[in-house]
Amino acid sequence: MILKSLFLPPSSSCKLFFSNDPLKIVKAKGQYMYDENGRQYLDCINNVAHVGHCHPDVVKAAYEQNQLLNTNSRYLHDNLVDYADRLSKTLPEKLCIFYFLNSGSEANDLALRLARQYTKHEDVIVLDHAYHGHLTSLIDISPYKFRNLEGQKEWVHVAPVPDTYRGLYREDHEDSVTAYADEVKNIIEHAHRKGRKIAAFFVESLPSVGGQIIPPAGYFQKVAGHVHKAGGVFIADEIQVGFGRVGKHFWAFQLQGEDFIPDIVTMGKPIGNGHPLACVATTKEIAAAFAATGVEYFNTFGGNPVSCATGLAVLDVIEKEHLQAHATEVGNFLMKLLKDQQIKHPIIGDVRGCGLFIGVDLIKDQVERTPATAEAEDLIKRLKEKCILLSTDGPGRNVLKFKPPMCFNMEDAKFLVETIDKILTDMEKECLNH
Ligand SMILES: Cc1ncc(COP(=O)(O)O)c(C=O)c1O
Repeated sequence: MILKSLFLPPSSSCKLFFSNDPLKIVKAKGQYMYDENGRQYLDCINNVAHVGHCHPDVVKAAYEQNQLLNTNSRYLHDNLVDYADRLSKTLPEKLCIFYFLNSGSEANDLALRLARQYTKHEDVIVLDHAYHGHLTSLIDISPYKFRNLEGQKEWVHVAPVPDTYRGLYREDHEDSVTAYADEVKNIIEHAHRKGRKIAAFFVESLPSVGGQIIPPAGYFQKVAGHVHKAGGVFIADEIQVGFGRVGKHFWAFQLQGEDFIPDIVTMGKPIGNGHPLACVATTKEIAAAFAATGVEYFNTFGGNPVSCATGLAVLDVIEKEHLQAHATEVGNFLMKLLKDQQIKHPIIGDVRGCGLFIGVDLIKDQVERTPATAEAEDLIKRLKEKCILLSTDGPGRNVLKFKPPMCFNMEDAKFLVETIDKILTDMEKECLNH
């Protein structure tokens, strides 16, 4: 039976990395992964293994709690309370109610329910190219997915990505913050004219699938102003970018400024370092409106003692190993090395990022900034041959995305950029010889 299942082909809707020559990874440690022949790969992709693959403290915490008890949250348990308390210390005071779940998609689906229940409105504004999860409700608010399906639902509105490199308003615009926020205001007014009402503005604090974008500071405040005026709430999806990845702050929405506080924050991926865990944080008022329906919220695995022990251990490691400061230090160093390459290689159009969230936008020409899609794919393939795992994002699939485990270090950064330099130099020579 087991042998037979090994030979069953996977569903063609499930994709592998490097599908022409996929990797069989059998173990991992820190920022390195190992294939079945013991070959070591530098992992620049995996933002789930946040504090490092198989971190011993995290593994130990889960193992020890597993030996004692794992059950649902219908019983009192210290782990759940301690974990909510620890998370609350990382967030603004008003975000003090926590729901625990098992995946980012579950968290975003609950955020949608909370917003609708609280506002009694239905419509949602999202950014173009966004991805918020795989549930039906979230495919509906993910232009990255629904553009390839039957299309946009009438309750979904798509705002332009506040991308000052290749978006509608660029670095030379006199006030891109207001211009992008006004786009949202116009969408709201248009929806109102059609008799529709806005429940939420749903956004990744740093759009990652959209191309590793850093929205200009002040944009969220202006958008929140318009959305609140329309009776809606602001939902920050921190599923990829939270937990200190941006270095300077614990949450990426904090890059916008201290005066910005979302109404709902969703967390996933790095929260459990690979253990299925997710969370929604919100205000007392929103939680009260949700409870007022009288319909209980029950999630069989959400908030179980093992998940909470795992989450607590992740927070401990971030603190103990000063991973936020490390992300700033190594991220700044990596950005500098990449910017040096930008001077040398014209294919590098933009290097942007914060902490260990960095994007390198590859272009065919400086004027049109045409995405260098094929070149990006070729570079990724050649990097894999040199034992470096990296991937691309953005609508043009031309943005190299760096989101390594947070223990990624200076030596790794040097090795990575030296290898990129060599490959780009080879590609340029090959291009000249053709
Ligand atoms: C920004 C964002 N939100 C939500 C999700 C969904 O999370 P999950 O795959 O854990 O359901 C993802 C997953 O890639 C994501 O990138």
